[in-house]
Amino acid sequence: MLKKIEAIIREDKLGDVKDALSDIGIRGMNVFEIRGQGRQGGITLAGRSGTYQVDMLPKMQINIILSEQNVDQTIEAILQAGQTGDAGDGLIFVYPVDEAVRIRTGERGNEAVVYPGDIDERKKGAA
Ligand SMILES: Nc1ncnc2c1ncn2[C@@H]1O[C@H](COP(=O)(O)OP(=O)(O)OP(=O)(O)O)[C@@H](O)[C@H]1O
Ligand SMILES: [Mg+2]
Repeated sequence: MLKKIEAIIREDKLGDVKDALSDIGIRGMNVFEIRGQGRQGGITLAGRSGTYQVDMLPKMQINIILSEQNVDQTIEAILQAGQTGDAGDGLIFVYPVDEAVRIRTGERGNEAVVYPGDIDERKKGAA
């Protein structure tokens, strides 16, 4: 089964999270610059003419399509690298994925998202 991890993280944590993912062999991913709000509905900032409200804060969204068996390890890596402990660290959502197709080869499903030396190949090597 394929899953999608959608991780919404702090902008300045992107480098650390990418490194942590690379360390466990997660290769394929895409990244969006997004804006949004969570529980606090934005933040209040102090300006020259008093305070003002910023309701949609910038975050980075990382999307990863991967096998179900790699989801827990990937979430753990994102938590380790992305956590500051303060409000605004972000959220991780997990979705089912119906299909993946590599256009060049027509490979489908898990085959479409396996890369040389990645987390799946490492697990195969260890088995
Ligand atoms: N229910 C939601 N659906 C989609 N995106 C969301 C949702 N809640 C938050 N987000 C996105 O996640 C980002 C990070 O939210 P944030 O870290 O502030 O979460 P939180 O639930 O308020 O937790 P915390 O209390 O740690 O701040 C938001 O800026 C927004 O982009
Ligand atoms: Mg919040």
